[in-house]
Amino acid sequence: MTTLKTLPENSCAYEEYDPKTLKPVNNSTFTRLMELGWSKEEFNGKSVLDIGGNSGILSLYAHNLGAKEIQYVDVQVPLVEFFQSVVSEHDLPIDIARRGFLELDTKTDKKDIVLCMEVLHWLVDQGGNVADSLQKLTDLTNDTLYLETPWDVKEPSIAAKGIVMEEDYNIELIIRELQSHFETVEMVRFMSYFGAMADSKRILIRATGKRTNNSNAGADKTVMSEEYSLAPAVAA
Ligand SMILES: C[S@@+](CC[C@H](N)C(=O)[O-])C[C@H]1O[C@@H](n2cnc3c(N)ncnc32)[C@H](O)[C@@H]1O
Repeated sequence: MTTLKTLPENSCAYEEYDPKTLKPVNNSTFTRLMELGWSKEEFNGKSVLDIGGNSGILSLYAHNLGAKEIQYVDVQVPLVEFFQSVVSEHDLPIDIARRGFLELDTKTDKKDIVLCMEVLHWLVDQGGNVADSLQKLTDLTNDTLYLETPWDVKEPSIAAKGIVMEEDYNIELIIRELQSHFETVEMVRFMSYFGAMADSKRILIRATGKRTNNSNAGADKTVMSEEYSLAPAVAA
């Protein structure tokens, strides 16, 4: 039996919960969960891959919403051990592994819903690039990819590091790449959970409907409704 651990101090302010009650312990965490807008209809019975899961709060939320198979991965040992202790304590059906994004296998780790939440900029910071990372995320996804990510490199947590360059990480690049892989790329909302950090512009994106030929070249040929015409209305 694993002893229930306390949340490591380097967990993010928006993913803190009480490991005994599993309740959010601050407003940022609660607000963020509500802002995600995730529903039981969307998660029920689905398999979920939570990449860079940190405290595990999004895996817990997915479980709460009825996901049937959840894989959590993160690279930081204290976080993985903390979440392992939570899952053991509550006897939850969540798989936990200390693994990095590059170690994920696009065949065996593929899931219905993939969560890449506040992790893409880390991957770029670690020497990856947006195009390759989004290609791999697409390959890992059966149905839906959720990406929550800073809008640009001015976002304080990236700017503080000063390593990621604007040409390597910007929202246009991210959206363009996503559109080449998915039919529908929704910018769901700007997240506001960092109430005190006004410069923190983070966006939640939902991508669904994987393209089969990996190209959006056919997007221009979308058949418009036959009911719609730009011809002037003829007076009756
Ligand atoms: C800002 S936190 C986001 C946590 C969580 N996804 C969320 O949105 O609540 C980023 C997490 O990504 C993890 N991480 C960083 N690089 C990673 C990598 N290459 N593979 C997997 N996880 C990584 C970090 O350890 C950290 O827990």
